[in-house]
Amino acid sequence: TRVALVYGGRSSEHAVSCATAAGVMSAIDTDRFDVVPIGIARDGRWVLGGADLTALALAPGHTPEVTGEGDLRLPLATDNRTVVDVRGAQGATALGDVDVVFPLLHGPFGEDGTLQGMLELADIPYVGCGVLASATMMDKHAMKGVFASHGLPIGPFVTITDRQWCTDPQAAIDAACALTFPLFVKPARAGSSVGITRVHSREELPAAVEAARAHDPKVVVEQGIVGREIECGVLQGRGHDAPRTSLLGEIVVDSEHGFYDFDAKYLDEKDVVLSCPAELPQGDADRIRTMAAEAFEAAGCEGLARVDFFYTPEGDVVVNEINTMPGFTPHSMYPQMWLASGMTYRDLITELIDLALT
Ligand code: DAL
Ligand code: MG
Repeated sequence: TRVALVYGGRSSEHAVSCATAAGVMSAIDTDRFDVVPIGIARDGRWVLGGADLTALALAPGHTPEVTGEGDLRLPLATDNRTVVDVRGAQGATALGDVDVVFPLLHGPFGEDGTLQGMLELADIPYVGCGVLASATMMDKHAMKGVFASHGLPIGPFVTITDRQWCTDPQAAIDAACALTFPLFVKPARAGSSVGITRVHSREELPAAVEAARAHDPKVVVEQGIVGREIECGVLQGRGHDAPRTSLLGEIVVDSEHGFYDFDAKYLDEKDVVLSCPAELPQGDADRIRTMAAEAFEAAGCEGLARVDFFYTPEGDVVVNEINTMPGFTPHSMYPQMWLASGMTYRDLITELIDLALT
């Protein structure tokens, strides 16, 4: 089975995606799968990837990046299952038949339904969520609408559109200030905490909104929720089986960071502990896992998703978000939660590819 691993991409999570690709390439079952590595450079060029996994790893002082020559912005399939012509300086490199694509991309232009739409048009099977779930779960405003309409508990928030900010910023700030501080100001469509600011007062809001707008003209302001950060891995069931949920994980952040930001996520490993299984009363853990499966189905997810929650001291549960392509290095929470649940990283990769092919 020929598997195209696509990584890098145009989003601010480019480096995270490279790290994910390094992890998958080092663990994928090469007895079963022939890997075709395809990197997408930051400017959108598609290039054939190399085998240098160290260069793709993310570490303090090293931000991996897809480089190399390639001049095709968008490879199109000309017939069923064929990804053609990732061009280099030497001319076209036809990739030939690819049985399945595994998009290891985080953020816009990869995790948001755009790539998925291209693969649908080309009739190429791919791992993970389809167009609708990818698109709605990428957009925190749309995502909250889906959760709320399915009766899933979400926190108080306000959306600031481009038009609102550009015509009446004071009204937008007034609306945000109706929430209880601290607030988290976020680009609607981004990931890995890029562009997010925690604000404690009205005066800090304009700069925080501008920081988020550097990534997306649509901004979501969320009321901070006091509670533990609990996550659950969800895997599509086989056939028509119900979604499978992993044991729960917990993000424990050193107070110096204040919140689980980009540096805490990827660079200062010592300051963050991914704890799995999270210690919760059994009844509450069961409730959260059930809710994770409900969120997965409400969003229409396929393949995989990680559902993130807040668990308050009172025992209330709030759904924070779904990531349709969660961090997926061997050390990331999603594979770690499955490992704790009895599935190795290699088997998880195999399972996801098999799900895409059935
Ligand atoms: N957006 C990052 C990769 C995550 O959710 O894990
Ligand atoms: Mg996220």
